[in-house]
Amino acid sequence: MISESLEKYISNIPKTELHLHIEGSFEPELMFEIARRNNINIRFKTVEELRKAYQFGNLQDFLDIYYDGANVLIHEQDFYDLTMAYFRKCKENNVVHTEIFADPQTHLSRGVKMETIINGITRAREDAERELGISSYLIICFLRHLDEDSAIETLEEALNYKNEIIGVGLDSSEVGNHPEKFKRVFARAKEEDFRLVAHAGEEGPSEYIWGALRELNVSRIDHGIRCMNDEGLIDYLAENQVPLTVCPLSNLKLQVVKNLSHHPLKEMLNNGLLAMINSDDPAYFGGYVNENFLQTAEALNLSEEDILQLAKNSFKASFLPE
Ligand code: ADE
Ligand code: ZN
Repeated sequence: MISESLEKYISNIPKTELHLHIEGSFEPELMFEIARRNNINIRFKTVEELRKAYQFGNLQDFLDIYYDGANVLIHEQDFYDLTMAYFRKCKENNVVHTEIFADPQTHLSRGVKMETIINGITRAREDAERELGISSYLIICFLRHLDEDSAIETLEEALNYKNEIIGVGLDSSEVGNHPEKFKRVFARAKEEDFRLVAHAGEEGPSEYIWGALRELNVSRIDHGIRCMNDEGLIDYLAENQVPLTVCPLSNLKLQVVKNLSHHPLKEMLNNGLLAMINSDDPAYFGGYVNENFLQTAEALNLSEEDILQLAKNSFKASFLPE
């Protein structure tokens, strides 16, 4: 059992979140509400039935349900409500700054305009800063199961909203979609001074992390836990203090680790890696940032010093100015 004082320490310490997919913060209650007002049918009858379906054998099992859920988002107000609901969770979790991922291609392919997505999220970001005192950035991710031309088209469209977007990322089905496939679009994003991040080493091997660093020139790796099988890579990541946005409950729910007590996070810290705790898709994986801290602290016997280190790392790894 985790002590009451450590629990308090976790909930009180200010944190940033650097790995959060806004579509993955879509709680079933809000999903049903938006579906109803948009006259869209959900293939589950109730919130409970939908939640019961959240059993995943791997990343692809999850992605299938996650893209399905996103289908009810049509109007600017939908993106606003989704994002505002996440900011309220940030407040509860003492997340004072967050760098939100969005997947425009998921919505563009259904006829939703880039303007609708960006304006809804941006309006919520402005309100959250003013009303809740939470700062944020927006990172748009390219879906790696689609081709690079689609990513390039998406980037060109996103350039119309350059002031609202700090960077680009890469997500969706990892294995079989090597980072190299997106070399040109990341080079183009770099020319535009976007910050670059990519999911790598979640299900895929350490070679994908090398690929994201060498072929895409990313400054931050999302997940990256598979680096622990590669001594040379551990040394490189530690020496260069490359941030790794680790998501323990995600890794558990997607069966990347069998048990949280087998999670490599503590070993990553012991090796001097700049890792921190994030929630990834909290509506699907059973918890926001504090819950990720709590369950990981319990499973790995983390100390107050470890918690402090993880929180400090989250600020250091953010795109906030010094
Ligand atoms: N999209 C949303 N969550 C993701 C994850 N954990 N890995 C890859 N793509 C994602
Ligand atoms: Zn992710």
